[in-house]
Amino acid sequence: LANGLGLTPQMGWNSWNHFNCKVDEKVIKETADALVSTGLAKLGYIYVNIAKWAQETEPELLFLTFPDDCWAEMHRDAKGNLLPKNSTFPSGIKALADYVHSKGLKLGIYSDAGQFTCSKTMPGSLGHEEQDAKTFASWGIDYLKYDNCYNDGTKPTVRYPVMTRALTKAGRPIFFSLCEWGDLHPALWGFKVGNSWRTTNDISDNWNSMLSIIDLNEVYADLARPGGWNDPDMLEVGNGGMKNNEYIAHFSLWAISKAPLLLGCDVRNLTKETFNIISNQEVIAVNQDSLGIQAKKVRMEGNSEIWAGPLSGNRVALVLLNRATVPHSITGNWDDIGIPENSVIEARDVWEHKTLETRFVGNLTANVEPHSCKMFVLKPIA
Ligand code: GLA
Repeated sequence: LANGLGLTPQMGWNSWNHFNCKVDEKVIKETADALVSTGLAKLGYIYVNIAKWAQETEPELLFLTFPDDCWAEMHRDAKGNLLPKNSTFPSGIKALADYVHSKGLKLGIYSDAGQFTCSKTMPGSLGHEEQDAKTFASWGIDYLKYDNCYNDGTKPTVRYPVMTRALTKAGRPIFFSLCEWGDLHPALWGFKVGNSWRTTNDISDNWNSMLSIIDLNEVYADLARPGGWNDPDMLEVGNGGMKNNEYIAHFSLWAISKAPLLLGCDVRNLTKETFNIISNQEVIAVNQDSLGIQAKKVRMEGNSEIWAGPLSGNRVALVLLNRATVPHSITGNWDDIGIPENSVIEARDVWEHKTLETRFVGNLTANVEPHSCKMFVLKPIA
């Protein structure tokens, strides 16, 4: 969407994957505090500041935080306005936005292009688009995730643009995240309507779900670009359902796929392992690269896969993924990766934080542990 937002994939935190409906203003405020005190918020800003486009553009969306579903009362007020749920958001959303903004973060919110949201505990915005967009803007909201449950059966290509127009008129830049999980291939029409669009059903915190989702998302790689990203759903890193090496693969695949990096764990209680994954600046830099080109699966050999995509400065991001339960040696050939045949390559291992001493010509081979990946940034030096 040409609203100047989402020039790199959005980064932030959302309550759903960890808290589901058990979200309140205390959790959001403590999360905002934790994003700042752990240094995670600053990490996001650092990247926006060094990106080339950031010199002309305000760093808008890093790092945002927001309650997902279940933040409002089931009934609107007499004038038809949405009401923050008194038992969980007693201070109201405006106060929450002020608090989050005072921490240098942005606040998102969630609604639905139907009669109710997916939890069916609060109203959706269908038929109230202008009113709700104005309400969100008046509260200081910076981001809207817009779901597709309990709709009236009309096409999302009819219902979603109504909210796009409403947000445009609301008087505040609001990042528009389409949560239409694939009823009508949102990747095919999302760019004119929003800044990102879901390409899959909801992620679950396990290896198979994670892989099936990033596979589905990969099909649409050509349709992602600055201003509009494929969204394979939020991160599960740190929620406990996968092993550390599996979470590293999860984060690597999301990063190289230019997916939104929306944390879904409890950032108030991070283990060292989780922190080390989500704070890896070299991996985040691949995700936030100014070129904005989504990587593709360039070769599959059974359970061994090669994912690659161009980065700025003639560099290439490479993930060697072992989906098997036994170790594999995996080779990425320049021919598949899109590097000129005779190029001499310097390889940076972005998880080991090491530039390999070997210079590579023609291909790069690495041993990859079960359910793991290796991730490199490749730079031509001759
Ligand atoms: C849908 C979305 C999820 C979450 C829930 C909330 O399932 O895809 O990300 O927002 O609704 O009910």
